[in-house]
Amino acid sequence: MIAGMEQWETVDAGWGRLAADFATFSEPSNVREYLSLHRAVGLEAGDSVLDLACGAGLALELASLRGADVAGIDASPRLVAIARDRNPDGDLRVGDMNHLPWPEASFDVVTSFRGVWATTPDALTEALRVLRPGGRFAMTVWGHIKASPGAWSLAPFALAAAPTVSNQAAMNQMGRPGVGERLLVEAGFADVERISIPFAWEFADPEAYARALASTGPAYEAIGEVGAEEFHRRCVELASERVREGLPLRAEIDVAGFTARRRLDLPESYDDAFTGSFLSAYPPNETAEQMRREDLDDDGYVSTVTKLWARMPGAFDQLFALQRSAAAFGGLSLRHRGVLTTATAATLGDSACAYAWGGKLAGWAEDPQVPASVLRGDDEALTAQERVLARWARQVVGDPNSTTETDLEALRAAGFDDDQIFAATLFVVLRLAFSTFNDALGLRLDRAVVEALPAVVRDAVTWGRESV
Ligand SMILES: C[S@@+](CC[C@H](N)C(=O)[O-])C[C@H]1O[C@@H](n2cnc3c(N)ncnc32)[C@H](O)[C@@H]1O
Repeated sequence: MIAGMEQWETVDAGWGRLAADFATFSEPSNVREYLSLHRAVGLEAGDSVLDLACGAGLALELASLRGADVAGIDASPRLVAIARDRNPDGDLRVGDMNHLPWPEASFDVVTSFRGVWATTPDALTEALRVLRPGGRFAMTVWGHIKASPGAWSLAPFALAAAPTVSNQAAMNQMGRPGVGERLLVEAGFADVERISIPFAWEFADPEAYARALASTGPAYEAIGEVGAEEFHRRCVELASERVREGLPLRAEIDVAGFTARRRLDLPESYDDAFTGSFLSAYPPNETAEQMRREDLDDDGYVSTVTKLWARMPGAFDQLFALQRSAAAFGGLSLRHRGVLTTATAATLGDSACAYAWGGKLAGWAEDPQVPASVLRGDDEALTAQERVLARWARQVVGDPNSTTETDLEALRAAGFDDDQIFAATLFVVLRLAFSTFNDALGLRLDRAVVEALPAVVRDAVTWGRESV
């Protein structure tokens, strides 16, 4: 340790001295690791991501190509200079990952690629702090190196002095079964999972390998012991035994990955005075809390539909994903969907969907008479084509066994092909499932939705359960 300097400030001597070599000879071989971890953590366009010990910033450049807003920190100013060059719009900082210079809850995602070690648990606590509640974390660490086919490629690091080599071993503990999991749980992470990560270094020839390896931090320590020439000679000698005619040198190394999450700050209880249905208040769970927050952000209150369906949030998402697919498959316009849904709700006598979709259709049609006429059943304000569609929805809901081929002919004559008839029917039936479920369990729509409706729509709903 250099007098007057913190440990992290000495890192650049090793990691920064051949920064351009590291960025171009070593880092690109890690792309398999970067891509698979980004996928595992569900990195999406619009996510803000922080990479700890970001090196020369190639992982962040890939994240940015996915549409993420990127930030990174590394102790080596010379590596950060390259990371900035690669990520001109990113927030790249020189600093210590154990004391992050960002406020609490700054990021959707935090990653680290073999940057956090068993000897640096504070970095995990810091990662958790800067993640927003519910935010995602993913990291990689070296796995079982000795059992890896590419173990030879890391062997020259053992040329370092004995205490350094044993420190490297201590740093690598996180990949051992259960160790990474325990450290993440102790740091306060939830949903900790170990995942497998593909990792293979490739080099054009022994010289390229020697140059790549020499650019890393552990090599600096080995070079300090045996000298640069000897280190290079040993690397070339080792790699020469691995040359394959016409193929690059390849070193597959076991790398472990972890994904985890920061918990949401769950309220003590969801025991709202009224649950919106005959069922009791839904049990606290994090997905439900997410739905609740989205409602609060969008509408300022938690809808009764959310209160009912938050009990099993996945069911709601899956049902509507299928309904959206059906609509997309048939190329059904928003107006088509509105006509089908309001006709379905009116036939079933479901006031909740009638109000909710009456309001939507009034907006899409820019005329409240359109939904009002479907809800009344006279279809006065519909086009000829929409009337056929509304009639079909009423038949499907009212008495599916009485439909005939002639009904399909009417749909075809109105311009719908068989794919569209398939899609419209599936769309109606899925809505029927949703409405039937809600009605059977006593769902009543929030008064706020009903009060915001045009009077003509409100007045057309003369059946079903009252709003609350
Ligand atoms: C194994 S490299 C990984 C680099 C990069 N993540 C990659 O995928 O190539 C370790 C990195 O940790 C950085 N580092 C070491 N100690 C650090 C600390 N306390 N804070 C931030 N970065 C640190 C080094 O500068 C180096 O870039």
